Amino acid sequence: MICAALLAGGIGTRLDVGMPKQFYLIADKPILIHSLEAFLKVEEMDEIIVSSPKECINKTKDVIKEYELTDPRITVIEGGKRRSDTILNSINYTLENDYPKDSIMVTHDAARIFVTPQLIKDSIRYAKQYGAASAVIPATDVIFESKKQGILTDVPDRQYLLQSQTPQSFNINHYLEIYSDLSDEEIDKLDEAMILFHMRGHEIGLFEGDRTNFKVTRPSDIKIANAMLRG
Ligand code: CTP
Repeated sequence: MICAALLAGGIGTRLDVGMPKQFYLIADKPILIHSLEAFLKVEEMDEIIVSSPKECINKTKDVIKEYELTDPRITVIEGGKRRSDTILNSINYTLENDYPKDSIMVTHDAARIFVTPQLIKDSIRYAKQYGAASAVIPATDVIFESKKQGILTDVPDRQYLLQSQTPQSFNINHYLEIYSDLSDEEIDKLDEAMILFHMRGHEIGLFEGDRTNFKVTRPSDIKIANAMLRG
C-alpha cells in the first residue's frame, strides 16, 4: 500500500495572508489544490491523506469539492500542533485503517506547489529501495555556520551540503520503530532535522529534487510562484 500525507495542517504565519496559506490563491487556485493535483496524477498512489488545522476541516473539504476533485482516494484528517505531529496523525490514520505495516508513506508540504508526479514517483521508488528517501538539491550558496550569536564559527565544505525538500518517504514500520525511541527533545527538533535523520540502521536514499519545488513561505514567494505559473 502506498499513501501520501499531504501536509496542510499549518497556518502560514510567515506568509501572513490573513488565512491559513493552503487556501491562498496562486494563479487563481488554492495552494493545496496545486499540490493535491500532482498527487492525483500518480496512479500507484492508493490514498492521499490531506491534513488540516482542526478548525478548517470543513473548509478543506469544501475547497477540494469546489475544484471538483472527487477522487475517492482523498481523505481529510485533523493535523497536529507541530508538523511532526501532523505526520504522526497521518500514520495513526493508516494504523486505524489497517494498512499493511510495510506500507510506504510519501510526506509532502502542501506549500510546495511545484511538486511533479515524477518527483513523487522517484520518492516512492527510492523508498522501496532504501526504506526511506528524500528529495535534495545541491546547496548553491556557501553555507556559514554560526554557533555564537552573530559570529562565523565554520564554513562547511559546500560539496557535501544538500538542501532537503519534500517529498520525503518512508516505510511506516521503520518510522514507528524509530519514533518510539525518540526523546521529547528529539521530537521537537523533527521539523528541522526530520525523522529520517534518526533512522539509524536504515539507509536514506537521496534523489534529485528541483529548484522550482520551493516552499511558498514568505510574501516574496507569492510573486515568484504567480510569475512562474502565469509564465
Ligand atoms: N504543517 C502541518 N502541520 C503543522 C505545521 C505545518 O501539516 N502543525 C504543514 C504546512 O501546512 C505546510 C508544511 O507543513 O504545508 C510546511 O510547513 P510551513 O511552511 O512551516 O507551514 P506553516 O507552519 O503553515 O507556516 P509558518 O511556519 O509560516 O507558520
